[in-house]
Amino acid sequence: MLIKKKRGWELPESRVISESRYFNRRQIVKALGLGTIGAGTASIWTGCVDDETIKNPIEIAPPFDEDVPAEIRAYYPADPNPDFAEVPPGREMTPEDIAATYNNFYEFGIDKTKVHIYARSLVTRPWEVEITGLCRNPRTMDPDDFYAEFGIEERIYRHRCVERWSMVVPWVGFPLYKLVELADPTSDARFVQFTSFYEPSQAVGQQTLTQYNWPYYEALTLAEATNELAFAGLGIFDHTLPQQHGAPFRLVLPWKYGYKSIKSIVKIEFMAEMPHTFWNDRNPEEYGFTSNIDPNMPHPRWSQMVERDIGTDEEIDTLLYNGYEEWVGDLYKRGRV
Ligand code: MTE
Repeated sequence: MLIKKKRGWELPESRVISESRYFNRRQIVKALGLGTIGAGTASIWTGCVDDETIKNPIEIAPPFDEDVPAEIRAYYPADPNPDFAEVPPGREMTPEDIAATYNNFYEFGIDKTKVHIYARSLVTRPWEVEITGLCRNPRTMDPDDFYAEFGIEERIYRHRCVERWSMVVPWVGFPLYKLVELADPTSDARFVQFTSFYEPSQAVGQQTLTQYNWPYYEALTLAEATNELAFAGLGIFDHTLPQQHGAPFRLVLPWKYGYKSIKSIVKIEFMAEMPHTFWNDRNPEEYGFTSNIDPNMPHPRWSQMVERDIGTDEEIDTLLYNGYEEWVGDLYKRGRV
């Protein structure tokens, strides 16, 4: 059951950010010739984003980026999937301007409130996704072709970050199992690995956060990837994804901590052995492969029993599997994963 409390309770997210503790700010500041990281960082990253954009960060999440073709716009708005058409009980829809300006996307720095500015430098058309590995139909696809191939629907999902903030937003896309079916994995395939883009000239974090093993990579078991809940995201709030949310194509895995929902995917590979994942390689003590949301399993440095809704600023109790046990509970009970 959800227990809501009124604001006044401040989650120290800046302190629970997993990596900022390890992030060597001094080293970066020195390398960049700056005194602080924060508001003053804009000018150092002008290779990626022009000064005008940085001075005018007000325009948030335009309905469609200019380069979205008319035939793609015509798919929106998508029909809601009836199973996920309602805002979950006890929650409110997170306003878009809040969701679109509080993002984790380390490729564009560690400041969540600025990711939407720096991510504008990411060119998302043309884009290719390579589908490869242990499957009978390897191919390379443009995410724009996913619309005709798989169709789209809208799903309102809770989204919960390991750092204890959460939101409720309407994603647009298709169930991931459709893509897996098209690829037709062989009987040896037990896992799927997903890899993000690597374009340092467009991604300031890939230039400056050199302690990370770019590009970002994540993985699921095949059983997880084909669970009904696993969603391939192409849009949000009635339009295509803006860059900060992972354009043009990302995962949305609402029962897992947010870092499993990899953004801006360029490669999908079917594998026999458990693949490596970005955060697990970086800090295996803190970030497991499975990473299901579980209030009773604390992070080594903080409790996971509560979360802050970034829309209402209220503290709420975290639910097992983020409230999606009826969809995914069996996966783990039967030890299939
Ligand atoms: N994907 C990539 N490529 N890079 C990232 O840094 N951050 C993850 C996930 N996907 C991340 C990523 C984390 S920690 C979270 S909480 C979610 O994206 C945030 O998604 P949102 O900004 O759309 O809310």
